[in-house]
Amino acid sequence: MNILSFYRGKKVFLTGATGFKGTWLCHVLHAAGAQITGYALAAAEPSLFQESAAGRIIKLITGDVRSGAEFVQAVRTAKPEILLHLAAQPLVRRSYHEPVLTYETNVMGTVHVLEAVRQTPSIRSFINITTDKVYENNEWHWGYRENEPLNGFDPYSNSKSCAELVTSSYRAAFFGSDNSPAISTARSGNVIGGGDYAHDRIIPDCIRAVRMGQPIVVRNPASIRPYQHVLECISGYLLLAARQYENPVLAGAWNFGPNEESCVDTGHLAALFCTAWGERAAWIIQADDGPHEARFLKLDCSKAKAELNWKPRWNIQQAVEKTVEFAKSPLPAHDCLEQQINTYFEGTDV
Ligand SMILES: NC(=O)c1ccc[n+]([C@@H]2O[C@H](COP(=O)([O-])OP(=O)(O)OC[C@H]3O[C@@H](n4cnc5c(N)ncnc54)[C@H](O)[C@@H]3O)[C@@H](O)[C@H]2O)c1
Repeated sequence: MNILSFYRGKKVFLTGATGFKGTWLCHVLHAAGAQITGYALAAAEPSLFQESAAGRIIKLITGDVRSGAEFVQAVRTAKPEILLHLAAQPLVRRSYHEPVLTYETNVMGTVHVLEAVRQTPSIRSFINITTDKVYENNEWHWGYRENEPLNGFDPYSNSKSCAELVTSSYRAAFFGSDNSPAISTARSGNVIGGGDYAHDRIIPDCIRAVRMGQPIVVRNPASIRPYQHVLECISGYLLLAARQYENPVLAGAWNFGPNEESCVDTGHLAALFCTAWGERAAWIIQADDGPHEARFLKLDCSKAKAELNWKPRWNIQQAVEKTVEFAKSPLPAHDCLEQQINTYFEGTDV
């Protein structure tokens, strides 16, 4: 029996359902037998949401988390038991161009989502999905732990640090009683996987380049990041949401990153991608005068391993291979998702 069996028949509300991670979550939760309501902006073009016809497996409400009253009403009407908040402006470079939109979406959006949790008695478990970038980066080699200072550098990272603080305040101020829902935040690594079309992310950039027969341009080959397959963090979110549903004292902040050996630099990741892709794929270094990027970033996931019995299952090489397999697959996206989800979860005992 694995974690998916917990979700059979459960009512789950997912913000950001049309995004990259949100679409994977829709398919995992659908495979588990959950009833899913999604809330997000309309799916981008192209997007995994559209390619995999995810609109057929969830009830999608198209809306903006910056409009608090409408969002609260949507959640109250859906009466979910579990709410996972992923809707965000998630791109560092875009946050330099649109800091106000980034803070409005990521901070006030989170306030509105927490208001909805406060006003919806059916909810027993809530997770705000933030990021590995919430920590104050000290450029050191070891991983950040959940109790270390929060202070992201750029507007995206910093807005997510703020979203952490907002969640912490709501937990303390409004959700302290015995029958309160469990309120957590989850900080995952840099996620890769099939169906990501975002700009300024290394794997989508690799796929666009090789498809055009061009070399992959790597801006900062020495930057070390906690790369992981999208199913790794999803397994963490689902495990945490289920465990705290049953045992609310688990509520708090949680890291879900890869093991030490999968924290590699961007050059290494590009090289792994080229090997997995074949066809003489190649990468080159080309610095631009882009914004500040931290050199080292790792997460310490001892807490999730010890207290939730969560562990990474696919290392960085497997994560890259699965991503390439997805991009090259002749199967429809829906079938490819189903196959990789089955492979990932089969035999797991958490
Ligand atoms: N992809 C990663 O590497 C990564 C790493 C760590 C954390 N995260 C976090 O995971 C979450 C999902 O990221 P993703 O990569 O799937 O991003 P994505 O851009 O693919 O999806 C974002 C989703 O949020 C929705 N959204 C954006 N603004 C909205 C608004 N104002 N109102 C309603 N919905 C809105 C979009 O419609 C989309 O469904 C984000 O919170 C992100 O910060 C992502």
